[in-house]
Amino acid sequence: MAAMAAMATTTTTTTTKTTATASGQNEDEKLTTAARVARAGRGVYVTTQFGFERVAAEELEATLGKPRAELLEDKGFVFAALDSFDCLTQEAASKLRSVENAYALVTAVRIAGLAQMPKEEALDALRRAAAETDPACWEAAKEAAWRVRGVSVKESARGAKFRIFRKRFGKPKHQFTSTDIGLPVFKGLDLLLPDWEGVLEDPNVSIMARVSDDILFLGVKLTDELVWSNLLLPYERERVLTPLRPSAAHAMAVLSRPQPAEIFIDPMAGCGTIPEVAAHSYAGQLFCISGEKDPLSVQKARRNADASPMHAYLDVVQWDARRLPLREGVVHRAACDLPFGKKCGSRKQNKTLYVDLVKELDRTMVRGGAAVLLSGDLRNIESCNPPGKTCTSEQWRAQCGGLDVTIKIIHKRETPVVCDDADS
Ligand SMILES: C[S@@+](CC[C@H](N)C(=O)[O-])C[C@H]1O[C@@H](n2cnc3c(N)ncnc32)[C@H](O)[C@@H]1O
Repeated sequence: MAAMAAMATTTTTTTTKTTATASGQNEDEKLTTAARVARAGRGVYVTTQFGFERVAAEELEATLGKPRAELLEDKGFVFAALDSFDCLTQEAASKLRSVENAYALVTAVRIAGLAQMPKEEALDALRRAAAETDPACWEAAKEAAWRVRGVSVKESARGAKFRIFRKRFGKPKHQFTSTDIGLPVFKGLDLLLPDWEGVLEDPNVSIMARVSDDILFLGVKLTDELVWSNLLLPYERERVLTPLRPSAAHAMAVLSRPQPAEIFIDPMAGCGTIPEVAAHSYAGQLFCISGEKDPLSVQKARRNADASPMHAYLDVVQWDARRLPLREGVVHRAACDLPFGKKCGSRKQNKTLYVDLVKELDRTMVRGGAAVLLSGDLRNIESCNPPGKTCTSEQWRAQCGGLDVTIKIIHKRETPVVCDDADS
């Protein structure tokens, strides 16, 4: 509790008021999002695949009860300032399903001119920044991580054994590499936290040290994709060559905005990740169908569905997505990770496959329904548009597994447009 009191005090004192400049622009508006995080102080910092930030922000909003306007969101991360880490529980973390990693952010410090500094000077600045952090906040962050991860009493009795996971981002390039960040941060923390022991193997505290432009982010990892593999899909899943990560599958399902008592399909489901995750995230509310052409993948999806505790809400079917064996207007929501045309299929095939799929979705979706498509074949996905009379669409670039992808959402209109030129 003393730690939390200390945190609350520091957070209050670091808050700066926004001031208007002579040009009328708020100083605040000129800051990058990362710089605003640095000004806000500590909180929860989650990383996502680029392009899925809005889903992570919604999850933080719902889980922490934070108004959206107070969240700081940028490419690949969302941050919410917190006075205390007490709200970071295992239950709260299990609701952050679209995130890749979640951290209790101890500090984000701006080091002016870091990118231009000679290597030794920059590393010394990182060491000093780490050494000046608040030890009580590190203890509170560690406790939060142990709570979220369900660390046993026996394990916690071992004391904090930490390992630093470091990463450098930003342009211009710094004079040091990601690997170089570890030692100065370790030296800074070693003096600050005498009871914590740095280890290379079997850590029970994972420390994040990220440098982005001139900002050093330091925090303790709360959880990661393990939310899915350990907590939600604990069984041994069978995978195809190009499986989607459950966190991305969840984000796609969310973007289709399912409502209770709806039918959800993935027309090209591979080993069935998206419907399996959707059945889990919307437990008992959706009926989900994995459709797939390749018999081996169908078998894998079926075995995964059988192992799922949500199997009653999950069917697996062998079909051709270009000719769905479904009546018109029966599908409420769809989400699909299309063949990119590299490891799976070809760009040439995609040209007609994507167009045929979109036609089938337009035919089988109910009015007001939505389909979320993802592909790394940017040209083909961006050019295959649904008929304007019956649908609208939106799309944006994102990243998945390190590849550039486009996410396209097709919305079936409630009422078709009557005028002749709507197809243009
Ligand atoms: C990128 S993979 C999907 C991977 C999936 N998201 C997962 O996690 O397993 C694309 C899938 O589309 C399937 N596919 C390709 N053409 C199809 C078609 N005409 N009908 C149904 N499935 C098709 C491929 O067999 C492949 O399994």
